[in-house]
Parts: sequence; C-alpha cells; structure tokens
Amino acid sequence: MAAHFRRSRDRPAAPRPMSASTFQWAVIGPGAIAHRFADAVARLDGCRLHAVCGRDAHRAQQFAERWSAPGEPAVLAHTDPAALLADPAIDGVYVATPHGQHYEPVLAALRAGKAVLCEKSLVPNQEMGRRLVEAARTHRSFLMEAVWTRFLPAYQALAAWLRDGRLGALHGLQSSFCFPAPYDPDSRIFSPALAGGALLDVGIYNMTATRWVLQHALGEVPPLVDLQVRARLAPTGVDARLAVMLDFGDGLVSQFHCAVDSFAPNTMQVLGAAGAIVLPETFWEATRLQWLPARGTAETIERPFEINGFENEIREAMRCARAGEIESPVVPHAETLAVLGWMDRIRALAGVRYPFDDDFPPTR
Ligand SMILES: NC(=O)c1ccc[n+]([C@@H]2O[C@H](COP(=O)([O-])OP(=O)(O)OC[C@H]3O[C@@H](n4cnc5c(N)ncnc54)[C@H](OP(=O)(O)O)[C@@H]3O)[C@@H](O)[C@H]2O)c1
Repeated sequence: MAAHFRRSRDRPAAPRPMSASTFQWAVIGPGAIAHRFADAVARLDGCRLHAVCGRDAHRAQQFAERWSAPGEPAVLAHTDPAALLADPAIDGVYVATPHGQHYEPVLAALRAGKAVLCEKSLVPNQEMGRRLVEAARTHRSFLMEAVWTRFLPAYQALAAWLRDGRLGALHGLQSSFCFPAPYDPDSRIFSPALAGGALLDVGIYNMTATRWVLQHALGEVPPLVDLQVRARLAPTGVDARLAVMLDFGDGLVSQFHCAVDSFAPNTMQVLGAAGAIVLPETFWEATRLQWLPARGTAETIERPFEINGFENEIREAMRCARAGEIESPVVPHAETLAVLGWMDRIRALAGVRYPFDDDFPPTR
C-alpha cells in the first residue's frame, strides 16, 4: 500500500559499467512497491534490472521503459513468468505481487534456480512457508522475505542500544501501524483471495520489530505464554483492525494495534527499567531513535537511508546468492516461519480464514 513508504527521491540513474559479475534482477508484479525496488537497484552498484513480468503487457512494458537505464540494454517485459524464469541471464527475482499471489512465482523461481527476494508477507500461512523453505533447500536456491526494516541503519543502532544495557530489564513494547485504506472489497487490502487484512499487510512490522528487540535485548524470543487478540473484521471477513498482546511471561509483553481502517501515531516504544527507546513515526522505516532515560539526559540520533531504504536488503540478497547461501542470517527461514506461526494463531483467534488455509492446512 502506498501510504507506508516514503516516496523515493527522483534522481535519475546514471549509466554504470556492466560486467560479467553484474547481478541481473527480474521483477514479478510491477506494482507500487516494485518501483521502489527498481529505484534502489538503479542506484546500487553491481546490479541492474534485466526483466519484468506482469499480467498486463502494456503495464509491464511501461515499467520496463521507466527503469531501462541509458547506455544499457532495455529492460525486457514479459507476461509469462515461465518465459522470464527460463532466461539464464537472470540471477535473482523480486516478487511483488499481492501476498496471496507470492507462492506460485516464488516456487517456480526457486525451481528455476533463481535467488528470490519476496515481499512480505512471504505467504498467507505457515504451511505454505514451510513448503517454500523446503523448495529452497531442495533446489539450493536463496530465499528471503523482504523484511527491509531489519536492514535499516536505525535498527542496527537500536540493536546496539539494546545490547549496551542502557534499558535495564526489558519490560515490554508498544507499537501501532494503522492507516485508513479506502474500502474496496476487491483490493489486495480487503480481498481474502489476495490474503488481505491488516495483520499480513502491516501487523507483520509490529511483530518483526518485537522479535528484533527481544533477540537483541535477550538473545532470543521467549515462547509465548499467552496471546490476546481483539478484532474488527471488514465485510469481506479479513481483519480491518486488531489489538494484540503477545505475552512472554513475567510481565514482558508486546502490545500492538494494526489497522487498515483507521489512523494512529505509528510509533514504537521499547520500555525498560531504566527508561525507554522511542522509534518515532513511522517506526518500520525509522531514521531516528530517541533514548528517554528515567533519570538523566535524553538523546536523539539520526540514521538516514543511503538510497531509499531497500538498499541493504538487496545487497544482502546478492551477497548470499553469490556465496551460494540459501538463507540470510538477518531474515533466516526460521524467522519468517516463526512470524507466520504467530500470524496463523492471531488469525485463528480473530476468526479470519483465507481460501489458502483449506488448500494448505497446518501439518501439525
Ligand atoms: N516493503 C514495503 O514497504 C512494502 C510496501 C507496500 C507493499 N509491500 C508488499 O508488496 C506486495 C505488493 O504490494 P503493492 O502495494 O506493490 O501492490 P500493487 O500496487 O497492487 O501491485 C501488485 C502487482 O502485482 C500484480 N499482480 C499479480 N497478480 C495479481 C492479482 N491476482 N491481483 C492483483 N495484482 C496482481 C499486479 O501487476 P499486473 O496486474 O501488471 O500483473 C500489480 O501491479 C505485497 O505483498 C505487499 O505486502 C511491501
């Protein structure tokens, strides 16, 4: 959705030298977020956009023309993912269809031996995620969910603050990711067939940030001792608004709101015995951190993006693929599956079912 990313700076890509080691990307799903990916690729060294695939030939061609760089071969436009994946020049595929439509192209790309960077949420449920992870292992292809937040300089700084012990004992987290989307039952935000709903679209950021904080403050994510969910469903049956409490025991909780039917100041507060760390609006794309000590002087640091925020996840995908890795330590498969497991449980408590849940029931 358009509201949750900053518009990229409109700097044209300069021609760059191509070499045999230039990483060739392809995009499947030339929608809003794919432009941000293409913008980052255009301004990163060592890679280029080689091809794009969309259902509509005209839209795919427009995308290809928009991101063809001067002095380089034109970006190829496809309408058939199989034709795109048969191209041996392609090293990596970025999948940016709606999340209900990630599974098929990701599976096909892994089988074709391509590295895959797939937009969040990787898939609508954990079982589908397990199958993709299995395919990555079987075909020795790199697979990463594009959880760009974990690669941002502000999140590296947050990790350092969590490890330096300034917070004292970690008490909990509060966060919100809410935006008012116009109600359209056929849109990817509200359609169950496109895996719509607030949780998979935006709540995933509240969860990944929670896990990041726990991993860096405690060295692990403790098992949930309780999970509380309150929901307002849209007429289509997907979650329009959720209030969630992830309870890790001993008073340590992460409370969050996520919604596609309302507004909130979308901040995150990490609460500890000695103070709080605040990621100001908008926490999932933070470029600033504040330390508010219970006693003493507050501190603010700035950690801007280098390009548009996508650069480090793209660099990491290329590093791993070139090294023959099938997963990244920053967003390992287990991390994606753990979040999908939380989302399955939250959806069950909220009463949200997708068509995919019948086709891919849980194996446990
Ligand atoms: N990382 C982030 O900050 C961020 C931000 C926004 C979205 N996302 C994620 O990126 C993905 C795409 O989101 P978006 O906002 O870019 O969506 P979007 O603008 O609707 O684009 C999705 C594209 O997928 C293609 N598509 C293929 N099958 C489709 C289907 N059955 N229904 C509709 N479109 C289909 C469409 O292109 P054709 O019609 O040409 O095939 C469309 O342009 C989602 O998984 C979302 O969660 C991530």
